[in-house]
Amino acid sequence: MNNKIAIGLMSFAAALSAQAPAVLDIQVGQVAGKVSPTLYGIMTEEINYSYDGGLYAEMVRNRTFHEGWDQPAHWYLMQYGNSHASMSLDKTGPSAGRQFSLKLSVEHASPAEQAGVSNEGYWGAPVRANTTYKGSFYAKADSPGPVSMSIISDDTGKPVASATSDALTTEWRQYNLTLHTGDIKTSAANHIVLTVAHPENVWFDMVSLFPPTYKNRVNGNRIDLMEKLSAMKPAFLRFPGGNYLEGDHIKDRYEWKKTIGPLVDRPTHPSPWRYHSSDGMGLLEFLNWCEDLNMRPVLAVYAGYSLAQEHVAPGPDLEPYVQDALEEIEYVTGDASTKWGAVRAQNGHPDPFALDYVEVGNEDEFDRSKSYDGRFAQYYDAIKKKYPRLQLIATTPVTSRKPDVIDDHYYKRADQFFDFTQHYDKADRNGPKIFVGEWATREGTPTPDFGAALSDAAWMTAMERNSDLIVMAGYAPLLVNVNPGGMQWDTDLIGYDALTSYGSPSYYAQVMFSNHLGTDIVASSLEGGGPRLFQSVTRGGGALYLKVVNASSAPQPVEIKLTGADHVKSTGRLISLTALSTGATNTLREPTKIVPVNGSIRGVSTDFHHTFPSYSISVIELDTK
Ligand code: AHR
Repeated sequence: MNNKIAIGLMSFAAALSAQAPAVLDIQVGQVAGKVSPTLYGIMTEEINYSYDGGLYAEMVRNRTFHEGWDQPAHWYLMQYGNSHASMSLDKTGPSAGRQFSLKLSVEHASPAEQAGVSNEGYWGAPVRANTTYKGSFYAKADSPGPVSMSIISDDTGKPVASATSDALTTEWRQYNLTLHTGDIKTSAANHIVLTVAHPENVWFDMVSLFPPTYKNRVNGNRIDLMEKLSAMKPAFLRFPGGNYLEGDHIKDRYEWKKTIGPLVDRPTHPSPWRYHSSDGMGLLEFLNWCEDLNMRPVLAVYAGYSLAQEHVAPGPDLEPYVQDALEEIEYVTGDASTKWGAVRAQNGHPDPFALDYVEVGNEDEFDRSKSYDGRFAQYYDAIKKKYPRLQLIATTPVTSRKPDVIDDHYYKRADQFFDFTQHYDKADRNGPKIFVGEWATREGTPTPDFGAALSDAAWMTAMERNSDLIVMAGYAPLLVNVNPGGMQWDTDLIGYDALTSYGSPSYYAQVMFSNHLGTDIVASSLEGGGPRLFQSVTRGGGALYLKVVNASSAPQPVEIKLTGADHVKSTGRLISLTALSTGATNTLREPTKIVPVNGSIRGVSTDFHHTFPSYSISVIELDTK
C-alpha cells in the first residue's frame, strides 16, 4: 500500500469513528434570559428578481416599457400570416407618471392574419390547468377595434388561454380580461401575446397578467413562495432594503410616495441591482405582505446616503428627507384622520398597521463622508418627538444619540462563522439591543449547500443563546430566481424559476429553529466533544428545546444531563436535518433531497445518552411538565 492510499484510508476511518464524547449539562431551572419573540424574521429587497420575476406574481416583464433603448426589452413583434406591422417606443402614456408606451403600427392585418406584440415573461409564462388569469392593459387606438390577449404555448404555437377586449377608443383607458386555461399541461414554456385584426395604430401601457395569488390579493404574491415564507413563521419583515433603499444615486433611492396608489401612476425606478423595478411591490404591498404572514414591519427609511458616495448634509438640506420619513411613518401607522393615514385608507387599507421599529438608512458605515452621526441624530430627534414609542435602529454605531438598536450584518464562510459563535456571549447588555439585519454563510450557489446550513445553524444557536440581546435576525438575501441572469448575489435562501421553488438546506434549518423557539433561554454548558459542536437550549409551554449542531464528519456521542428537572417524559420528539456531505444541496430538480425528518427519541431521563449523526442539525423537544 503506498503512503497516499494509507493516509487516505486512515482519514476515512477517522471520519467514521465517533468524536470524543461530550457532556451537555442543562440547568433546567436556571433561566439565563428571555428569548426574543421576534428573533426570526425576514429581510428582503429587490435583488435577484426577488419581487419582479419572483414573489410579486406579475407575469408580464417590462410591462411599462422602461427597459430597452429604441426597442422595448422582452417584447417582440408578431406578424401572423401576411400581416404587416412595426413597433416602437413612444413618449406618451395614460397618466402623468407614465413616460413611455409601446406603439404598434399595423399596415395590414385581418381576423385570420393578426398582428401584434408578444412578451416573453420572466423566463417564461407559467400556466396551470383549469386556472383563471387576470389580464389587463391600458390602450388607445386611432381606429376602433378590439385587442386579443392570449397565452401561447412555445411548443405548439397555439393558445392555451385567450380573451378579447371591447373596442378601443382614441382615449387611454384600462381594459380588463379574464383568461381561463383548460385541461392543459403545467408549463412555463409560453409567451403572452396582444393582437389586433385590422390596420391601425395602437398604443399599449401597463400590460399585466396575474395568476391566482396568495389569499387572492389583487396585485398579490406567488402562492408557493408565500407558503414557504409562512412555514418560516417570520416575526418581522425588514424592507425595502438593503441597497435597494439607498439606490446608486440619491435620485434613484426608494421613494415610497412613488410606490403607492394605482399602478398606472407609479413611475417605476432603477434599482441598484442592475435592473428596473416595476414598483408593483410598493409600500402598501409590503404592509399587506406583513398582514398576510402575521409579521411586524421593520420599516427602513431613506436617510440621506446613496451607494455612489452621495450624501445629504445634516441640517436644512436633510430636513425634507426627515419630513418624508415622518410622513411615511404616518402612512403606515396613522388613522384615517391623519393626512397620510387618509391616503392609505384611500389606497385600500383603512386600518393602521402596527409598527415598533424604524431603521434609519442602511449600512451607513460605507458613507465615507462620515455624515451618519449627524444624519442619525436629526432623524432620531424628529421621529422620537412625534413617535416616542418607536424603537430606532442605527445601521452602524453612533455617538450623537443612543440608538435603541444597532443593525449588525455578517456574511461569512462556514469556518469563519464556526469561530464567531461566541461573539455575543460576553457582549455588553447595557448598550443598544442588536438586530442582525443581514446574515448568511456564503457557500453554495445559487442557494446554500449543506455545509452552509451547518454553519447557519451553528450561528443560530449562538443567536438564540444571546437572544436577550439580539432582538431580531434576518438571513439575506432571501430569494433568487435561478434562471441565467436572475442572480446578482449568490447564496440565497430560497430558489425558484417561473413555475416552481425550493428551500435550501439553510431554509429548512431556519424552519426547524423558528418553529421551536421557546420563551426562556435555559443555562447550558457543553464540555468535550469535537470542535464543531454547537448547542442552544430554550424552553416554553412545558417543553424543553435542545438544538444541537454536529458539523463534523464523525458522529458525536453526548451525555445529556437535565440538572434540576423533577420529571421528564421518556420519549421526546426529534427533528433532524442531515446530509452525507457538506456539498450536498437542494435544487429545482431535487427540491426535497435534504428536508427535516420527524422522529422520536426514546430512553430520555434526567441523564441520558444520544449520538448526533455526522453532519446533522437536530432539534429535540422534551416534555418536562
Ligand atoms: O444582501 C445583499 C446586500 O448586502 C444588501 O443590499 C446590503 O445591505 C448588503 O451589503
